Amino acid sequence: MVRALLIFGILLISCKKETTPTGPDTGDSINYDRDIQPIWNRNCTSCHGGSSPSGGLDLSAGVSYSNLVNVISPTYNVWRVRSGKPDSSVLYHKIINSGRYGGKMPPSGSLSSDEINLIKRWIE
Ligand code: HEC
Repeated sequence: MVRALLIFGILLISCKKETTPTGPDTGDSINYDRDIQPIWNRNCTSCHGGSSPSGGLDLSAGVSYSNLVNVISPTYNVWRVRSGKPDSSVLYHKIINSGRYGGKMPPSGSLSSDEINLIKRWIE
């Protein structure tokens, strides 16, 4: 009986995971250094790093968070990343290429939809 209940429980959990629309990692907390910074390292720091980073924005490990979160972009006069509000964040508009704040980031190619989703959930 206990075993049957256990198996039933496991089945329930696995069903739930499969039907969640935003992917299997829903509900897990996002860790900035572990999950987000590597996206900047792979796609952004070639321009957004060094002594004169593009757009005045340094996305290097250790400084990126404090350069983004609740910081106003001097160019667009809107938050780079507004905590809790992707739609009010220049960064989000740039990675989805909405056109609201200049061109797409990264300028050539684009982030995968998984990466974009992860960043959106991190902002939220
Ligand atoms: C090939 C160089 C290059 C790469 C790679 C690049 N950017 Fe940019 N980025 C720029 C330039 C140039 C600007 C300034 C012009 C503009 O605002 O579009 C800029 C501006 C920005 C701004 C606005 C900064 C502000 O305060 O006004 C954000 C946010 C941004 N980039 C995010 C990113 C992210 C996130 C990535 C990686 C996914 C990325 N960029 C990759 C060149 C790059």
